[in-house]
Amino acid sequence: MSHKTEFLYLSEQDTIQAGVLDEVKCIDNAEEVFRLLSKGDYLMGGSNHNSHGLGLVFPKETPFPNMPVAGPDRRFVAMPAYLGGRFDVCGNKWYGSNAENPKKGLPRSVLTVTLNDKDTGEPLAFMSANLLSAARTGAVPGVAARHLARKDSKVVAVLGCGQINRSCLRNILSQLPEAKTIVCYDILEAAAQKFLDWAKEELKVEGRITSDVQDALKDADVVTVAASRLKPLYVKDEWLKEGVTVLITGPMQTDDSFWMDTKLIYDNIHLHEAYVQEAIESGDKDAYYSGVIGGPIYTLIDAGKMPALKDSTSIGDVIEGTKPGRTNDKERVTFVACGMATFDVWLALYYLDNDLAALLRTHDREICSPLSAGSECLCYCGDRPFDFRMYSLIWIRRSGKIPEYYRSNTYGSNAGIYRHGNFPRRGRKSDTYVSGRKRTCDWRDYSCVFRICGN
Ligand SMILES: NC(=O)c1ccc[n+]([C@@H]2O[C@H](COP(=O)([O-])OP(=O)(O)OC[C@H]3O[C@@H](n4cnc5c(N)ncnc54)[C@H](O)[C@@H]3O)[C@@H](O)[C@H]2O)c1
Repeated sequence: MSHKTEFLYLSEQDTIQAGVLDEVKCIDNAEEVFRLLSKGDYLMGGSNHNSHGLGLVFPKETPFPNMPVAGPDRRFVAMPAYLGGRFDVCGNKWYGSNAENPKKGLPRSVLTVTLNDKDTGEPLAFMSANLLSAARTGAVPGVAARHLARKDSKVVAVLGCGQINRSCLRNILSQLPEAKTIVCYDILEAAAQKFLDWAKEELKVEGRITSDVQDALKDADVVTVAASRLKPLYVKDEWLKEGVTVLITGPMQTDDSFWMDTKLIYDNIHLHEAYVQEAIESGDKDAYYSGVIGGPIYTLIDAGKMPALKDSTSIGDVIEGTKPGRTNDKERVTFVACGMATFDVWLALYYLDNDLAALLRTHDREICSPLSAGSECLCYCGDRPFDFRMYSLIWIRRSGKIPEYYRSNTYGSNAGIYRHGNFPRRGRKSDTYVSGRKRTCDWRDYSCVFRICGN
């Protein structure tokens, strides 16, 4: 059997072309993912189906000269997921993080995502995912801001002024029409200033920087937390005012009294149950807790000072209307998001489809669209028959919400008549194709674009 697996590669630039910077549009989709989580139509790693991911933990020291050793923010993590609903796809995010990276001109973490056919495991796409991951991370507090923040929120405090909080802020502001002022706090003043300059230019907000967390929080209606682990970020309970919405994306230390007072909404309680399970299995629960965002909360739950996770609320429940979110303007509401691969898979698929749709738009060489049933596929580039030898084909069916696509493997034919190729491998229609003959299957809702080989 000769079978060649092909997949699309999307560079960071391709993901930009596919809309990765246009994050605000993602919030509706992210909400849809939360609904699927609430219904249970997803899988993540581990026997509990809810693991954040599997980390490669580096030892403190090693006898082997090349083996990496532990360092600040240094880790590799694989985050597999299946996402159901109309997405119906598997994938994995794989990233490496190292606080030393910026010295080499690299972001702290470097990420990729692979999408796979859920049945065969074949890759559909492999993509650079730094912007993608930031976009999916930011969309999550965007959804939370939509459902949990006071609508009259005006001031947003940004704690930790890196790539992730840029995306968080962009999404959060999109949901709060009256929020026009930001206060930026970072242990590195230069990072805070750079963030502010970017936000003024890009998001058209006013604001200031501060080197004092308490000062950053004094007027804040919304707080977005995404500091790295260079130094623990400590926020005193009394610094957070009445009615505030705290959107936690990175670790934050605070007083037990804050956790016990605030209305806490989780991204997905089952993810947090998995964290607790993994902490127990690790044999050193406290050490495990100290490394994860929810650690201080789990400690209080274990001590019986906060409701058990099973009795708590996921944002999906709030979206679905099965549990309450914010019920008045005075309560302090906190949303904790630890990152789920289901969101990476969703966005990767979204950008893959956008990339293909962009191909359709940008290539005036669209051909055979629509095909009529049983027709031969006469292919033209402009008004000239097209030589396929240099090109591979991508067939796109645009009738569904997400275009299905198939990429041909063969580039053998010429003179413009596509007589040979591995037509769709997925779905019944492919079964009726006989190479070298007129197709008898109904291709009317397929369009075809082509790409230069190796592109
Ligand atoms: N929940 C999720 O889904 C998710 C996803 C990705 C990243 N994250 C987390 O978001 C955080 C930020 O990631 P990033 O990629 O933007 O990192 P980054 O390194 O680009 O930026 C982080 C910023 O935080 C600052 N910082 C570090 N310690 C601080 C402190 N104590 N107080 C104030 N500022 C501090 C750093 O100076 C830096 O400017 C990390 O903790 C990361 O693990 C969460």
